[in-house]
Amino acid sequence: MDTVRDLVVKNRSYRRFDESHVISREELVELISLARCTASAGNRQPLKYILSADPKTNDLIFSCLAWAAYLDDWDGPAPGERPSAYITILLDETISKDPLCDDGIVAQTILLGAVEKGLGGCIIASIQRERLARDLEIPEGLKIRLVVCLGKPSEEAVLEDLEPGGDIRYWRDEKCIHHVPKRKLDELIVQ
Ligand SMILES: Cc1cc2nc3c(=O)[nH]c(=O)nc-3n(C[C@H](O)[C@H](O)[C@H](O)COP(=O)(O)O)c2cc1C
Repeated sequence: MDTVRDLVVKNRSYRRFDESHVISREELVELISLARCTASAGNRQPLKYILSADPKTNDLIFSCLAWAAYLDDWDGPAPGERPSAYITILLDETISKDPLCDDGIVAQTILLGAVEKGLGGCIIASIQRERLARDLEIPEGLKIRLVVCLGKPSEEAVLEDLEPGGDIRYWRDEKCIHHVPKRKLDELIVQ
């Protein structure tokens, strides 16, 4: 059985998938059922979700997202390697105007649940929010915070140690393995 550490380390930001892998609505509902159990500032629980696993809605969401800003020579996943599903995280402003960090907590929880199922994904904040809200016909009062993309990863991503002052940008090698530099422990712990 995977430890929490195994799941956290496996949970990289994946951006290329086997798009033929079908994710059911039930699987997405299970991930929201997990996210529902997380901490929430003041226990206000202002986040709501739009689930998509159908090709038409997936295309619509995909067209509103920006991918991997550091990879200059890559325009994002090509047809066939795009996510099979999306969870759009919304803030219900009738409950709270500020989710503090609730959205990050639920996004990470959704991804960890996905990794446990053999899936993977990526949190996307670079979103054409007005267009997506219009195209998904999101009611007034619900504001798009993040989109979590999900699929069966078809790429390998590895962590590597970042020396102090080194380059934080992720990169891909000639075998298309995605490298993610992380600051070393002794740089993070102040006292
Ligand atoms: C709040 C947040 C917003 C992000 N937005 C995007 C995004 O718009 N597009 C994208 O390709 N990746 C996005 N990412 C993924 C980051 O680029 C990724 O977490 C980072 O490169 C480190 O890689 P790792 O997740 O594998 O550790 C986002 C991540 C977070 C936490």
